[in-house]
Amino acid sequence: AEKGLKDYYKSYFPVGVAVSPRALQNPAEVALILQQFNSLTPENDMKMGPIHPDSTRWNWGPADAIVDFAQAHHLKVRGHNLCWHEQTPRWIFKNPDGSQVSKAHLLKRLHDHIDAVVKRYKGKIYAWDVVNEAIADNPNEFLRNSDWYKICGEDFIAEAFRYAHAADPSAVLFYNDYNTERPEKMERVYKLLKKLKDAKVPIDAVGLQGHWSLVEPTEQELRTTIERFASLGLKVQVTELDVSVYPWEKDRRAKRPDESDAYTPDMQAKQSAQYAMFFKVFRDEAKAGRLTGVTFWNISDHYSWLDTYPVVGRKNHPLLFDENFKPKPAYYEVVKF
Ligand code: G3I
Repeated sequence: AEKGLKDYYKSYFPVGVAVSPRALQNPAEVALILQQFNSLTPENDMKMGPIHPDSTRWNWGPADAIVDFAQAHHLKVRGHNLCWHEQTPRWIFKNPDGSQVSKAHLLKRLHDHIDAVVKRYKGKIYAWDVVNEAIADNPNEFLRNSDWYKICGEDFIAEAFRYAHAADPSAVLFYNDYNTERPEKMERVYKLLKKLKDAKVPIDAVGLQGHWSLVEPTEQELRTTIERFASLGLKVQVTELDVSVYPWEKDRRAKRPDESDAYTPDMQAKQSAQYAMFFKVFRDEAKAGRLTGVTFWNISDHYSWLDTYPVVGRKNHPLLFDENFKPKPAYYEVVKF
């Protein structure tokens, strides 16, 4: 069979991809996955809302389908995720009478959720994103003012790691976040990670999501971030890599009347250069023992979450494979070394 990313990077790190069970039903996507990748992350199906929609109801089917596929094809699995402010079911924060649960009660529910999910896939999932995106977007704030935080204060973070570690002591446990290479956010993430390490919380690693663009991050920002987090004794992975052809922005839903979504030669050239630079850094950091994995967020430009975020209906082209599942010029940059 033709070589893929997983073969070129065999002596560096596993190369993963985020998937839905639907992609695993499509022969073209299955062929590309098996040729290129050796690790899977469920894009949505292990999140608390999808997998645990009601206090007494579990929706294991889609997550099981992904894990079964991985087992059948000898792929690793990264679990994503155990505690987040999005895709979290409302029931978890409420008493039966609709009032807000106490901190003790919420931590008990968090424990029971994490215990059930992690034990179910013990030995089949090697790494978990335990807490996702707990840092605030506002640079002047520290932790995000989520329902978790409002009810528990910052304790939910350390507790989530302890619960996950108790459920599977051999799983590699991650804190995962975005925009971690921006100096101000890097400092806030570092502060959180340092607190956890100082308190002997069982955290092993940090995930840089890697939702990057044609201009962000710079090579220096990327190296600095990886090395600063690794200085705490943590491993680093890039967990959700894509390179948007548009600048990062948050929460603009509507397309502007004059807005084009053409994938210009200039965008393609800049994107190839970004990918080439990123993977050079990844190889160096892997050789230095700091970087242990890279996962793409979606398979090909056929489908990306960025096609509907932030702007609905503006086509993006953030991945290494095109809409017909063929390698793009950026792919050849990444495997040429
Ligand atoms: O499944 C429902 C469907 O039943 C419903 O009819 C439809 C209508 O909106 O929504 C469907 O759910 C959508 C879900 O994806 C599955 O397709 C949600 O609306 C949509 O919000 C959700 O988006 C996901 C997003 O996380 C949620 O915040 C994206 O697919 C997923 O790629 C994205 O992934 C996140 C990572 O988990 C964390 N880091 C950032 C990353 C990108 O946002």
